[in-house]
Amino acid sequence: MSTIQRLLRCFRRVPAGRGLAATNSAAATGAQSRLASSNVPNSGGSAAPAVHRSPSPTSSTSSHSQTATLLNMAPRFCPTDANSFANTDEIRITHSHLSLAVDFDKRILEGSVTHTAKVVGKSVTEFVLDTSYLDIQQITLLGKEQEEGQTLKFELATRDEKFGSRLTIHFSEAVAAETVVQVCIKYATTDKCTALQWLTPSQTVGKKLPYLFSQCQAIHARSMVPISDTPGVKITYSADITGPANLRVLMSAVRTGEETVGDKKIFRFSQETSIPSYLIALAVGNLASIPIGPRSTVWSEPEVIEAAAWEFAGTEEFIATGESLLTPYDWGIYDLLVLPASFPYGGMENPCLTFVTPTLLAGDRSLVDVVAHEIAHSWFGNLVTTQNWEHFWLNEGFTVFLERKIVGRLQGQPVLEFDAIIGLKALTESVEHYDDIKRPEFTCLCPRLENEDPDEAFSSVPYEKGFNFLFYLEKELGGPAVFEPYLKAHVTKFAHKSINTNDFKTFLYEFYQDQEGKTAILNAVDWEAWFHKPGMPPVTNVFDDSLAKACQQLADEWDAARDQEKPNIDKSSWEQFSSSQKVMFLEKLLQKPSLPHSHLAHFAELYNMPAIQNAEIRFRWQWLCLQAAYTPIFSQVATFLGQVGRMKFVRVLYRALDKCGAEGKEVAKQTFLKNRSFYHPICAAMVAKDLGL
Ligand code: BES
Ligand code: ZN
Repeated sequence: MSTIQRLLRCFRRVPAGRGLAATNSAAATGAQSRLASSNVPNSGGSAAPAVHRSPSPTSSTSSHSQTATLLNMAPRFCPTDANSFANTDEIRITHSHLSLAVDFDKRILEGSVTHTAKVVGKSVTEFVLDTSYLDIQQITLLGKEQEEGQTLKFELATRDEKFGSRLTIHFSEAVAAETVVQVCIKYATTDKCTALQWLTPSQTVGKKLPYLFSQCQAIHARSMVPISDTPGVKITYSADITGPANLRVLMSAVRTGEETVGDKKIFRFSQETSIPSYLIALAVGNLASIPIGPRSTVWSEPEVIEAAAWEFAGTEEFIATGESLLTPYDWGIYDLLVLPASFPYGGMENPCLTFVTPTLLAGDRSLVDVVAHEIAHSWFGNLVTTQNWEHFWLNEGFTVFLERKIVGRLQGQPVLEFDAIIGLKALTESVEHYDDIKRPEFTCLCPRLENEDPDEAFSSVPYEKGFNFLFYLEKELGGPAVFEPYLKAHVTKFAHKSINTNDFKTFLYEFYQDQEGKTAILNAVDWEAWFHKPGMPPVTNVFDDSLAKACQQLADEWDAARDQEKPNIDKSSWEQFSSSQKVMFLEKLLQKPSLPHSHLAHFAELYNMPAIQNAEIRFRWQWLCLQAAYTPIFSQVATFLGQVGRMKFVRVLYRALDKCGAEGKEVAKQTFLKNRSFYHPICAAMVAKDLGL
């Protein structure tokens, strides 16, 4: 590292290894102010202590900035987001129009995006966007009506391994503050774009037609569209997408029309509620649909559409319960798309069109909590959005909290607390995992993500530590009757905005400032520990374990029988368990020392484990066997790993297999190499990393 690099790194926390190639006159506004600033004005008036960081995010940057300006060469990141290059403090996109053709032969999207953007602050000469593996062809500043556009110079920086290539567009002259410009970028995606998975017909259920889907969260939108890829900017969007006439295109937007032109079909969309870039979503395939509610349609390949419509029949009830807790549903329609098996997540809250894994189709509606979760994002995440990935818990923690409230309203408080116990186990595992790989800092509620890929920091922590934090706050402040009005006020205040943890905390104090005794309660909260200490939460909530007890008892029975030659355990308790109790029972066993192999063999036979199709149960059973290095399970694990691409299952099973001695390692490697193209690029990259391949 050169002296200059060291100097800059020290002043502006420029991550090691970043080149000095880029020049940028605006380097003065450094990342130092990133955490404290927000596009939401501080509410003022309340006495909320700031969310502290070291070094303090509010510390002065003036002398550092001068140095950076003088040196004029530090790579510049978005002032409110360490994972984006966009100069959103200078020019902000308000609307984007996508005009793209889907080419299944070349496996590319090709066309243009037109950004409408407004100059904020001072006049600007550059418009900086995020890209990743895009082929940028031409950039035009559109003129007023009838005027010809003006071709703009641009440069695509050398690729940053984690964040892609900064695209700097040069205006021919400075554009004054408040000016609205329209910039059209002609481009194509490439075979390296991580947001897109192109499936061959054989990778679909129907086996006859190809399929394409996107997954943009957290920072993959930049590999589908050149854009300011930060959740700190919210835009509306519209699109016309041309695809083969025998396939259907869907997006995270309202469908506004379609027309057939020869063997092609153009589909039009409009998203009129502003969204962060990570919520732009696209799917193209042989898709059938069935209406399942007044504002909901379920979509999937025709082969599974009936099953999907049955499984998700309770969708409207979830939405209506969300509305009764918060504000009216803001997005018009709420559709569901059941994706092919390689979809890497359980669900993705793409607005107007939640994407879900087909592993939810259990045939007994036992896994529909995922839909309640994605619906809860309609308020937390989609309406009130985290400003950057360091405050991701504002999306996921709040969403889990609302999801469990919705489920609790419909199925009772014991179910809510039962789910919280399962969640706590997931949190414990994440904490152990990050300890294992020596990255305990990722277990902070607000992790620092400078020079970090948000996918690497992704875990149960923002979900479950976030949930536990809100559960704790609710209890301290006086329970749901006192806390739910606050939740609603939070949504009302911050709807259509992007916020950080400080904004959350300031408003929490403000909301309760006139209620007797509440400020004292808030002052007693150990904010620093909750936000910035790694590991398990500083306070351990106690959850109602009435539904969990029977699961614990059966696990204890198995545990106590470990010394018996053949455990004398009746299969009736298992048979009476609900699917989630079976999950909980297996979770409890996973927390105990491994069972002897003979017991696992007996277990498999007694409960007929090889026949189980429910992915959550199957996954935990296989994991339990792998924890015991039970080799007879290897082939079943390999089969499962060839059938699903959901990372929650896949990553854990590969890691567990990898720990099963030399044989396990080899099975893990071979299974991965065989299935690599089946997995979504994000999943393949994460597993390759986990396995050190
Ligand atoms: N938004 C997430 C999925 C996600 C997070 C994708 C981060 C990419 C980066 C989604 O809402 C989610 O949390 N899905 C969970 C569902 C569960 C918590 C009910 C999943 O996929 O398992
Ligand atoms: Zn979520």
